[in-house]
Amino acid sequence: MIQNSTSIQWQNGNRFPGQHTLPVNARVVSVAEISPEDIMPKPKRLIEISIIGESENVDAFMKDYNAGDSVYFIFPNSQKEVDFVLHRLGLYSVADNQLKLSVDQNSQKRDPKVPAFIPNPCSLRYLLTYCLDIRRAPGRPLLRVFAEYAKDEKEKRRLLELCSAQGVTEFTTFVRQAAISIVDFMIAFPSSNPPIDRLIELLPRLIPRPYSVSSHQSRQGRRIRFVYSLLNFSAVNGIQFPHYGICSEWMRSLQVGDKIQVMLKEPSKFRLPPISSPNLSILDIPLILIGPGTGVAPFASFFQKILAEKIKNGQSEAAPKRYLFYGTRDLEKEFIFRDELESLNREGIITDLILCESQPMKDNTAHPKYVQDGLRERGKEIVDCIMNESAPQTLIFACGDGKGLSKDLWACFIELFQTHLGKTLEEANALLKELKEKERYIEDVWS
Ligand SMILES: Cc1cc2nc3c(=O)[nH]c(=O)nc-3n(C[C@H](O)[C@H](O)[C@H](O)COP(=O)(O)OP(=O)(O)OC[C@H]3O[C@@H](n4cnc5c(N)ncnc54)[C@H](O)[C@@H]3O)c2cc1C
Ligand SMILES: NC(=O)c1ccc[n+]([C@@H]2O[C@H](COP(=O)([O-])OP(=O)(O)OC[C@H]3O[C@@H](n4cnc5c(N)ncnc54)[C@H](OP(=O)(O)O)[C@@H]3O)[C@@H](O)[C@H]2O)c1
Repeated sequence: MIQNSTSIQWQNGNRFPGQHTLPVNARVVSVAEISPEDIMPKPKRLIEISIIGESENVDAFMKDYNAGDSVYFIFPNSQKEVDFVLHRLGLYSVADNQLKLSVDQNSQKRDPKVPAFIPNPCSLRYLLTYCLDIRRAPGRPLLRVFAEYAKDEKEKRRLLELCSAQGVTEFTTFVRQAAISIVDFMIAFPSSNPPIDRLIELLPRLIPRPYSVSSHQSRQGRRIRFVYSLLNFSAVNGIQFPHYGICSEWMRSLQVGDKIQVMLKEPSKFRLPPISSPNLSILDIPLILIGPGTGVAPFASFFQKILAEKIKNGQSEAAPKRYLFYGTRDLEKEFIFRDELESLNREGIITDLILCESQPMKDNTAHPKYVQDGLRERGKEIVDCIMNESAPQTLIFACGDGKGLSKDLWACFIELFQTHLGKTLEEANALLKELKEKERYIEDVWS
């Protein structure tokens, strides 16, 4: 019997792309609600952890982590969903037994192998809790397996339809876009119970979620702070039960004192100073920082680093311009790091704090304002700041949603260059591309 999942090395110690360090232990040291859960669509929460223990991994983590980095949180699947799958497949009573996986000798696959991220032996419960993603929308090969085992003819037909060449649009609408999970699928097609080995073969690997650090070790040592949105999904379009985002719900369940495991994500270009110019003095760089919602998180780490540097070195001359464009629905209901940002603004670490409310409720006449509107309002000075040739030159950092924000900001800067520099569309595009290539326009976006 395998009782204690922590006695097994997480996913067999097998690395995944993007992982920088091996897992290290951490203790939750504080949790807090930033915006109220009952009224906000994606309430924000804060979690602070402290890296514990002494090991090479801990040393590597602490040595390498810097402002702008992200940390992967290792999380389990929901026990309710794991139990549902086990019950449904008639495996609940043997879920904790030791399981030795081997390759089917009759497999038609070329070079079949037990995936390296599955500890062998382990248990079915471990496998479904820590190794396999049971939330990600199933792909067509898995649908085919469900069709193969469906006892009900109507269900079989529907499943075959969804994975047929003619069913591509339906598959995209009802499975992919609706983000249906394996559990939703099992509820919708009750007559199909594929054998577990087919699920093990086809379910994707469970990958930890990254979160941007919003503190810096020069100020907080081994304590690292994060801010996250609690995602929630209603039971619509084939989703069979209302649920939260898998990792954000687990994070919300954490209490002070809980022990967890995290690892550092490979550093990206999104660092201060950027990796390509490590010798730039961060006290001298003019900055334009754009972060709606949790996109503000990494900038809080930038400011802690700047503040620590300022205290260490002193800053004799006037601070360069440091703009922060922060966007939220309603500042009265949600203002991440309010006291800290306002205090940094008073101290001149943030020279210009531009607050944008997209759904202000205070008075009916207030118009929605997005970070792009804030940039437009300050268009002339922003463009002057970017075009100023004195060294070091201005860096623009943007963090947030990869689908919407990235595209909309790009369009906004193009518009600013056209309006304030008289550039044609092509010239404005070329200028922005050049800024991106020279790592003066740096995004950390996710979709
Ligand atoms: C480098 C990096 C840094 C990140 N930093 C942060 C951070 O600091 N704070 C933070 O909250 N998140 C951050 N994220 C996103 C985070 O890693 C998770 O993807 C997010 O919390 C959802 O995970 P989940 O398991 O709760 O949701 P899942 O159960 O995985 O559900 C995700 C589903 O919701 C959609 N989705 C994900 N996020 C949102 C959103 N905000 N709004 C609407 N739909 C969404 C996805 O497209 C997907 O369909 C970061 C992502 C990256 C790549
Ligand atoms: N390092 C990273 O890659 C990283 C770090 C942190 C967060 N993120 C990602 O950033 C996104 C932020 O999510 P969130 O839940 O924190 O935000 P959110 O609460 O949903 O939204 C915050 C504000 O941004 C506005 N907004 C929405 N789309 C926008 C757009 N295209 N341009 C400008 N503003 C826009 C919202 O306006 P409305 O009223 O219109 O909704 C709201 O005012 C998520 O996708 C998250 O995963 C990435």
